[in-house]
Amino acid sequence: MPDSIAPDALRRLVLPDRVHRSLYTDPAIFDLEMTRIFGRCWLFLAHESQIRAPGDFVRARLGREDVIVVRARDGRIRALVNRCTHRGAQVCQAERGNTAGFACPYHAWTFGLDGALNSVPHRQSLPPDFDLKDPRLALAAVPRVESYRGFVFGSLAPGGESLVEHLGPIAAVIDNVVDRAPDGEIEQAGGVARQEYRGNWKLHHENANDTLHPGFVHESSVSAARGDPRDYAAPAYDGHQTHTQMLSNGFGVREWQSLSLTGFPAGHSYMGGFYRGGVLSPDRDDPVWREYRARLVARHGEEKTARVLGEDRFNNLLYPNVSINAQYQQIRVVTPLAVDRTRVTAFCFRLKGAPEALFHRAVRFLTNLSSPASMILSDDIEIFERVQGGLANSEPEWLDQSRGLGADRTEAGGRTVSAGLSELPHRAQYAAWLRYMTAAA
Ligand code: FES
Ligand SMILES: [Fe+2]
Repeated sequence: MPDSIAPDALRRLVLPDRVHRSLYTDPAIFDLEMTRIFGRCWLFLAHESQIRAPGDFVRARLGREDVIVVRARDGRIRALVNRCTHRGAQVCQAERGNTAGFACPYHAWTFGLDGALNSVPHRQSLPPDFDLKDPRLALAAVPRVESYRGFVFGSLAPGGESLVEHLGPIAAVIDNVVDRAPDGEIEQAGGVARQEYRGNWKLHHENANDTLHPGFVHESSVSAARGDPRDYAAPAYDGHQTHTQMLSNGFGVREWQSLSLTGFPAGHSYMGGFYRGGVLSPDRDDPVWREYRARLVARHGEEKTARVLGEDRFNNLLYPNVSINAQYQQIRVVTPLAVDRTRVTAFCFRLKGAPEALFHRAVRFLTNLSSPASMILSDDIEIFERVQGGLANSEPEWLDQSRGLGADRTEAGGRTVSAGLSELPHRAQYAAWLRYMTAAA
């Protein structure tokens, strides 16, 4: 297995102001990422609302592992590896559902929700010491599964830091999305948008808080949104939500620079102040919002409500596999499939106790931003593929990430902060990448 790249060789590939092209193109590096990052870190698997009742399950990818995240009869959530212990067939084909157990389609060994082998056909032909209770015959279980306020994460490492330690201050975005629910709970609802691109997984994360690109990459939708609304025959069907979502990519450099970027030693990052400008803010003076706010005040009181709704963090990356938006209740899961192939899965949440129209806004935001019909993520994906295509050339060897270098401030706990046009999130991600990749097992 590819534990063969020496730490010093890896260190030569990541410098403060640049990274080597092989990080995006070398299958051996990808293999090592699967072992040392996706094979050890806490990865988002599912939301508890997707597996509310015993027998509810949802499939997920944990590094290279195809896992079934399932709620057992005792209420406990487990993540089971989708591989029969007989001859290796997948025991589950559905993406989600409810089941009493898992029956292998090949020779009908059956497994319980806890993964235990319950029955095998033609038992008398097996050796007398064949023991159904032998733990080696149970579906393999992911060693660590933990929830943080309904968000279920798993880690293939049997030990190491806890989920809360790994998330650190970025957990605030999970707190914020849950605190926005007047009933104190959120639930995954609506459809799931899934796209794949022919590019490396890290391109997604770099792009999310890259504030220089929107004016160029999203220029077509920004300029369409800047057209005179009187040119449109029909009145806006959505209270101009789509329009403002497109416009928000049209900040000038001064506006982008007025935002803040924050990176954490674990690789997490977010953009602060994006909503302050008011272009994209969900905080509208309309009857739906007023009703929603009143319900939230009933739960939290005025002061806490103002704090919860005033939280202004955009594109929160929970390194290495998930991005969360609290204001519009969005989540995006990034799954590396190969060095040059990545899947992006996006869905949204309903805030329980909020007016249903608020959920419609979340769905619209998802459609506009992350669905295959999006005029935004589609542009980004096109760029990821062009980058991957460009990096197939052997020269030059390096990618520059020096924008804003020297202006980064390091604060308590090792977080780094800078003004909005910096490539600080890239640097934070690659510092973390190097630490994970060179850590001893
Ligand atoms: S491979 Fe599953 S029962 Fe044979
Ligand atoms: Fe973009």
